[in-house]
Amino acid sequence: MKKLGIGIIGSGGIAQSCHMPGYASVPDECEILAVCDVDPTVAQTAADAFGVPNVFTDYHDLLAMPEIDAVSIATPNAFHKQPTIDALLAGKHVLCEKPMAMNGAECREMINAEKASGKILQIALQWRFGGAVRFMKDFIDKGHMGEIYYARSMALRRRGVPGWGVFIDKSKQGGGPLIDIGVHILDLTLHLMGNPKPVSASGMTYQKMGKNPKYFNPWGEYDREKFTVEDFAVGFIRFDNGATITLESSFMSNIEREFFGCHLFGTEAGALLDLFSGKPVTIYNEVDQQLFDMVPQNIPTVKSMHTDEVVAFVRAIRSGAPSPVPSEHGMALNSIFDALYKSAETGKEEPVEA
Ligand SMILES: NC(=O)c1ccc[n+]([C@@H]2O[C@H](COP(=O)([O-])OP(=O)(O)OC[C@H]3O[C@@H](n4cnc5c(N)ncnc54)[C@H](O)[C@@H]3O)[C@@H](O)[C@H]2O)c1
Repeated sequence: MKKLGIGIIGSGGIAQSCHMPGYASVPDECEILAVCDVDPTVAQTAADAFGVPNVFTDYHDLLAMPEIDAVSIATPNAFHKQPTIDALLAGKHVLCEKPMAMNGAECREMINAEKASGKILQIALQWRFGGAVRFMKDFIDKGHMGEIYYARSMALRRRGVPGWGVFIDKSKQGGGPLIDIGVHILDLTLHLMGNPKPVSASGMTYQKMGKNPKYFNPWGEYDREKFTVEDFAVGFIRFDNGATITLESSFMSNIEREFFGCHLFGTEAGALLDLFSGKPVTIYNEVDQQLFDMVPQNIPTVKSMHTDEVVAFVRAIRSGAPSPVPSEHGMALNSIFDALYKSAETGKEEPVEA
């Protein structure tokens, strides 16, 4: 089978550090033929680093290349929708960065284009490919946790406002930590719970620290006056099977340490995933009236979740398999965030229009 021709749209941080190395890791299966960035210096730097022959500043020129079979969309969130739709309708498969789009309505348009094209639309939610999450998914699917009826899901930074890119600009991001990093932790929590259908959500957002120059930020300097997103968000989400999730996400908060993980409450066992710690998984269960804390010792080692995600995309295209991370899951996440942001304004529980 011939190698897939790959194009990269948006050639900045995540493209150069994750997508391009991912494609370059399977040189017998694909080849990066073109990069595009509105900033010509960024595009040229990416092309030079990976020996890419074609460099564009307008993604339509990249999509016009018949040798390109698939593209990565690694632009800021406000520029996910249109390049994705244009790429799909040009007959290219798409790996689109997270969050899928600015809101659920944009996701719906992207899914319509996916259906019309018959091509794959995969969302870059790489945590599903991590060793701890793979282990937990298998453990859960074998029934060891019983019914998971509740989860506490957290992507909390003590001090971590990104000092680069457009992460503090609501007009280009759609929101703050909720949509940026909450998307990862909510996705992996839902993945482990079997992706139940969300029905309603209630939440609140706060902007208590991000604008204030007195707070230390080791993630790079940024213009505090241009901080237009929330710095902390909390939500309560209901699902059609009766399960619920509480979600917390911050760029800045006065907590002990950065925490990225979730507590799963199951009828047969519970689990704590503390993914940035030396003990990423602990299982809590009971046998014959005795309570046990179990720490798995041979969780699979994954060199790079991002590479595994990109390779899964390439192999799904080559084998005709469905999207390894379906667009419907990306839309459910955006639709939950829509309801949470709306609830923060109305003070009421809001329906999730997924
Ligand atoms: N999966 C992850 O863990 C992860 C990590 C970081 C970023 N991201 C996501 O990746 C996306 C990009 O983030 P980043 O950190 O690489 O940002 P970045 O600013 O480093 O790179 C984005 C690039 O897109 C370019 N661009 C903007 N509009 C464009 C357009 N219309 N056509 C072509 N290029 C365009 C910009 O010039 C910039 O170079 C965001 O959606 C972000 O949420 C995901």
